Amino acid sequence: MADPAVMAEIAAARAAMAALPGAGLDLLFRAAHTHNGWQDRPVAPALLEEVVALARMAPTALNGQPLRITWVASGEAKARLAPCLSEGNRAKTIAAPVTGILWADAEFWKNLPKLAPHMADPMGSYVGAPEAALAAARLNGALQAGYVILAARALGLDCGPMGGFDAGALTAEFAQARPWLPLLLLNLGYGDAARVRPRAPRLEIAEMTETL
Ligand SMILES: Cc1cc2nc3c(=O)[nH]c(=O)nc-3n(C[C@H](O)[C@H](O)[C@H](O)COP(=O)(O)O)c2cc1C
Repeated sequence: MADPAVMAEIAAARAAMAALPGAGLDLLFRAAHTHNGWQDRPVAPALLEEVVALARMAPTALNGQPLRITWVASGEAKARLAPCLSEGNRAKTIAAPVTGILWADAEFWKNLPKLAPHMADPMGSYVGAPEAALAAARLNGALQAGYVILAARALGLDCGPMGGFDAGALTAEFAQARPWLPLLLLNLGYGDAARVRPRAPRLEIAEMTETL
């Protein structure tokens, strides 16, 4: 006779798996693609807020949450963005309904007294340690950026992440005096499926992992 506690755990695990059925996994992962072309359909500002409301639940070191986002949506703001883009990314970014500039705030640690109330000395690792702060900002900001992509997909949006931009020009134009480092540009909208590139190979699981 199986241990009832083990049986209950297995039942709970099965119930949890059922919470995200195959269609959800397709939406987030298996059918999701990077998009290069966009339908002429706007993205409501309230939907962008929903994306952030979900993505901000991502885990980050000390709950530091270094990600900052500039939504570039107006024609005037897109015109400021255009010169910062690599040639190959320009036309599709101008055509996208909205482009997120995803930044890492190098001074994220100043919020730790509020965000890490469980810590006795929350800012201790970073005061006077700009290299450690920068490394933590980049790592955790990139992690949060991945969650932004997943959150957008979960809400039915398509994403086009891009690293091809002039970081100096982007920072001068949009970060201005703030200590923000650009991580990624993210086109968002409703994609044109005809302009998606064929799926490129993924590494085999055995090439990516080891079990010790
Ligand atoms: C950090 C990052 C930088 C990227 N930079 C660019 C870019 O500058 N231009 C571009 O067209 N695609 C860019 N991509 C898109 C990738 O090439 C694409 O996500 C990858 O080939 C997988 O495509 P799939 O989602 O259709 O499978 C970037 C993606 C990431 C995550």
